[in-house]
Amino acid sequence: MSVQSSVSLLTPAGRHKLIEDGFYANYLAYFRKAEDTRRWKLHKDIPWELCKPDVSEDVAIMVEGYFAVESYLPDFVTEAMAMVRRSRGRAWFQANWGYEESKHAMAWETWLVTSGKRTQAQMDEYADYLSEKQWTLPYDTPRRMIVYQMIQERATYLNYHNLAARADKEGDKALATALRIIAVDEIAHHGFFYKGVQLYLTYDTANTLDDIAHVLKSFAMPAANFLWNWNEFEDVVAKAGIYGAREHIRDVQNPILNALGYDNRRDLERAALRMRIAPDSIGPQDIPDWAKEAPDRPAEALVAYAGD
Ligand SMILES: [Fe+2]
Ligand SMILES: [Fe+2]
Repeated sequence: MSVQSSVSLLTPAGRHKLIEDGFYANYLAYFRKAEDTRRWKLHKDIPWELCKPDVSEDVAIMVEGYFAVESYLPDFVTEAMAMVRRSRGRAWFQANWGYEESKHAMAWETWLVTSGKRTQAQMDEYADYLSEKQWTLPYDTPRRMIVYQMIQERATYLNYHNLAARADKEGDKALATALRIIAVDEIAHHGFFYKGVQLYLTYDTANTLDDIAHVLKSFAMPAANFLWNWNEFEDVVAKAGIYGAREHIRDVQNPILNALGYDNRRDLERAALRMRIAPDSIGPQDIPDWAKEAPDRPAEALVAYAGD
């Protein structure tokens, strides 16, 4: 009997158990690797004395924007944990993830103040401003959320990876080091979520393809519209070639789709529809919502629809 047919014979409860067992096994492997190879100290591992006060204001605007997005950690942790609390692997992961993410906003604040690009009073004022707003989950099921998290973490990795090259060019070794260390955290987060999506694809293929198609179509970076200079930030990161619609499709979306076995978004959508539509009884009821609707990215989305 092939693996395919044995999976198709499983009950929904049997599939759920295999997915959950997989999540916990993945978390144990993730945690062990993090403990062995990836733990770092904010006060020791970044050479803050090498901050360069004359680095460009564009770089400061980008780091300040990353500080703002990473500042929504309490909402990210609370909302995600409430959704996945019954999944041992995902809940334990979220707890560990919260610790790792907590260092990111602190690193950006430390750089902004140590380099003299912002004062502590300015950072305090911004933190107060950000705390007035509350982030809520962009999707309402654990499976859609893990697809979102998989994409968002890789997009964050790309932002930091690209800005590290810019920091090198401008000669700020402190910022370049911080960006590289934190980029490794972000791509590790992406890896955990990617493996989770693979589990869902293996044991619940049709529904997972539907969810990937839906999330790809509506994806926007978290809390971006909460920045006090959102338009300026979006403009600066796009013009610097750090992250914009083109980079998102080329360096985030397509590598994920290729790794999952699809050429691009259209290819995955065709696969989702093939799984869904029975050849002899095609009707409107067989067409999922994401296939009927025009792209519905929010106006404030970082990534504009690029005809991908
Ligand atoms: Fe982060
Ligand atoms: Fe992350």
